[in-house]
Amino acid sequence: MGNFATGVTVITTTDDQGQPHAMTANSFTSVCLEPPVILLCVAHGTHTYGFVERSGLFGVNILDRDQEDVGAYFAKRPEDRTGDVSVSYSEGHNGIPTLDNSMVFMGCQVVGSHVYGDHTVYMAEVKEIRENNSSVPLLFFRSRWYHPAPE
Ligand SMILES: Cc1cc2nc3c(=O)[nH]c(=O)nc-3n(C[C@H](O)[C@H](O)[C@H](O)COP(=O)(O)O)c2cc1C
Repeated sequence: MGNFATGVTVITTTDDQGQPHAMTANSFTSVCLEPPVILLCVAHGTHTYGFVERSGLFGVNILDRDQEDVGAYFAKRPEDRTGDVSVSYSEGHNGIPTLDNSMVFMGCQVVGSHVYGDHTVYMAEVKEIRENNSSVPLLFFRSRWYHPAPE
């Protein structure tokens, strides 16, 4: 799978205290346009899994080329997230946190799921989109980050 180049997203949810929670994910893809449904695979060992199971809601934030530090930060376990990474959130519809400065935000509601092995595949309908069209995406390939030149 490391030979498949992807963009990088940060999945935003809310924790048991209602505070924003986030994790890096690249299993995101489109399922269909009518209705607008996307797919995400979440490992059962993540905190995000419990929060998505409870609320049925999550945000997909597509990272901009300048957000490698954010992608690397949210790929760590929460107890290991140290360092000087500047992250701020706004609130989308349904209370889903949106990650400020990302390229695209999609507010999603789970419409189907399938458990396989140690992951659950979620299908979710996109209820809200916020775009920053001037951005260029961050990429991930063979465990390394890539930053395409601006157009
Ligand atoms: C580029 C990249 C992509 C990742 N994609 C996923 C993914 O699609 N699903 C997943 O469950 N974890 C994925 N991870 C791992 C999670 O980011 C990692 O387990 C994180 O610590 C989970 O955070 P949480 O326990 O706070 O939810 C990815 C990590 C990296 C570096």
